[in-house]
Amino acid sequence: MGLMRKKSVQGMLAFAQTSQGLRKELSAFDLTMLGIGAIIGTGIFVLTGTGATVAGPGLVLSFVIGALACGFAALCYAEFAAMLPISGSTYTYAYATLGELVAWIIGWDLMLEYLLASSAVSVGWSGYFQSLLAGFGVTLPEALTAAAGAVPGKDTLFNLPAFCIAMIITGLLAFGIKESKRVNNIVVLIKVAVVVLFIAIGMWHVKPVNWSPALPYGFDGVFHGAAIVFFSFLGFDAVTCAAEEVKDPARDIPRGVIWSLAICSLLYVIVSAIMTGIVPYAQFAGIDHPVSLALQVAKLDWFAGFVDLGAILGMMTVILVMTYGQTRILLAMSRDGLLPKVFSDINPKYGTPYKATWLIGTVIALIAGFVPLHTLAELVNIGTLAAFSLIALAVIVLRKREPDLPRKFYCPAVPYVPALAILFCVFLMTQLSALTWVFFVGWLLIGLAVYFGYSRRNSLLHKPH
Ligand code: ALA
Repeated sequence: MGLMRKKSVQGMLAFAQTSQGLRKELSAFDLTMLGIGAIIGTGIFVLTGTGATVAGPGLVLSFVIGALACGFAALCYAEFAAMLPISGSTYTYAYATLGELVAWIIGWDLMLEYLLASSAVSVGWSGYFQSLLAGFGVTLPEALTAAAGAVPGKDTLFNLPAFCIAMIITGLLAFGIKESKRVNNIVVLIKVAVVVLFIAIGMWHVKPVNWSPALPYGFDGVFHGAAIVFFSFLGFDAVTCAAEEVKDPARDIPRGVIWSLAICSLLYVIVSAIMTGIVPYAQFAGIDHPVSLALQVAKLDWFAGFVDLGAILGMMTVILVMTYGQTRILLAMSRDGLLPKVFSDINPKYGTPYKATWLIGTVIALIAGFVPLHTLAELVNIGTLAAFSLIALAVIVLRKREPDLPRKFYCPAVPYVPALAILFCVFLMTQLSALTWVFFVGWLLIGLAVYFGYSRRNSLLHKPH
């Protein structure tokens, strides 16, 4: 029965009520801004180009499908987040409800999400950074512009800017710089302004002829595109990480999760329609800064520079939030005894998991230097889709098992909404490449080996103090 051992929900609720250390000052508005800050990044600024080459103008439908998958999952997420308003993540919720093994698998999957997403967004950042440098006539040696094999026909070796930005952000986190509410709000305003201006200016340059044929690769292309651009919606779960600092978590967290996702979804659908309306979809092949490309095609070069700058700033906050999230999940797992203590060692001077941050940050940076964006994005997506499916399943299971547990937010139409979340997520998983699956299964097997070889014996629930 050890595999099913659970942390007690009541115990965690008591912990949430007594954790007075952090000031509770975030509102639903702040949480929405936090969510948008973590969501808008490499997905919309870079992967729309890849999405357009596989789906054509049908990319708009790909975004709608991605939004539905995340929307259903977000409603399930919101039920858990409002029930257990403590810092943590799906891992923590699962530990209290589904037991240790499932929690471990979710935590292990979330590593694919946060760790590789940090690498992926660093690679996306590098594309825009280089585009901005090129505007000033500066170019890097070709070998250092991208990972080997990332750009067909080019002799690339290592993505130096991606490596550097990941290390810089790691340094900030290691020394205890947390994203402040004010900085986040400013960056979010810049990001949203860039996107809204793109819509307002770009729509006058759309040539409807570019929308035809609408589905050059049929629905297969649309679904494949959805499995790729799913990446652009990730980050709404970051809202739940702030649970302990929220004024009224039960009311505000679901609002923050749902509002940030809804706003970004709307923006994405419109942006993708405009991009494929300005540029014939085939021209996006191999382009790593598609939004500014669309503006260049529309002869709006002055605005393209502004977009580059907004994207660069905006993606830095995404890397920050994702890397932070990764270190905190490791911290939670280590505190529970499932991972070695080094991951929860707090440096007394900086008040951060200093060693673990440098360790993980260096791994993130090396992966960003050596692995192409497309490969990373698929891996992030498969890990996240698996974690979302498990969370949706957890909502159904817990409603049956503990129907009387107080819930401040009820996911509507259970079991149908969670079932739809599972259906959409599993379907999108089937659209990812065979290689991604091989890696994913390998990752899970390693995870199980670590669990049975180390974590199970060292779990605090195994040897209570
Ligand atoms: N949604 C985040 C991005 O697109 C991960 O950068």
